[in-house]
Amino acid sequence: MFTIDWDARYRDGETPWEKGMAHPALPFFIESHPAFFEGKPRLFHPGCGYGRDAAHLAPLCREITALDIAEEAITNAKNLYPALENIRWEQGDLFTWDEPEHYDLVWEHTCFCAITPSYRAAYVRAIHTLLKPGGLLLGIFFLTPDHPIGEGPPFRVSRDQLNHFFGKDFELIEDIPNPPTYDGREDTETIMIWRKRP
Ligand SMILES: C[S@@+](CC[C@H](N)C(=O)[O-])C[C@H]1O[C@@H](n2cnc3c(N)ncnc32)[C@H](O)[C@@H]1O
Repeated sequence: MFTIDWDARYRDGETPWEKGMAHPALPFFIESHPAFFEGKPRLFHPGCGYGRDAAHLAPLCREITALDIAEEAITNAKNLYPALENIRWEQGDLFTWDEPEHYDLVWEHTCFCAITPSYRAAYVRAIHTLLKPGGLLLGIFFLTPDHPIGEGPPFRVSRDQLNHFFGKDFELIEDIPNPPTYDGREDTETIMIWRKRP
């Protein structure tokens, strides 16, 4: 096992994932799935980086917890979006975050592919624990099935792996391949909607 110094990546500006805007799939997803945001859900967003997606989702949610292990990312997010009072910006570790069954929704965007692969089962357990019964994991998943094994981040992710890791504790509700995306990420992503099994 090796660890990634995420804070150093931000301090050194080694952040190729940071595009200065929310993921382009997010407006498309919100427009095509308005029911998920009726009643203003409580949403958890792990690995939020500079908080672009959280800021886009804020008007639709009662409360957002935007979590990142990198202090530098959270400091920047707070500076970028000081006026969004329903976002709780938190520096912390997803794997020890302790708010069981608090959230209606989780928004995933390049956190699953970024963590060390030996932590994937722990990621699934953490998300399952955070969601209320019947809660939904909404994710834009980066698919890199030909990526060399062990090299990353991002680490190799395939559809089979996603089904393997999430399929036991979550039910796949919808899979939307090739949604709108950033320049250069065409044909590499899919949106998946997973419902927590009891
Ligand atoms: C590839 S970046 C994506 C950031 C953001 N989602 C984006 O697309 O701009 C992965 C993020 O996950 C964060 N991260 C990695 N491990 C984490 C953990 N255990 N708990 C919380 N955040 C973590 C990193 O600090 C980093 O900001």
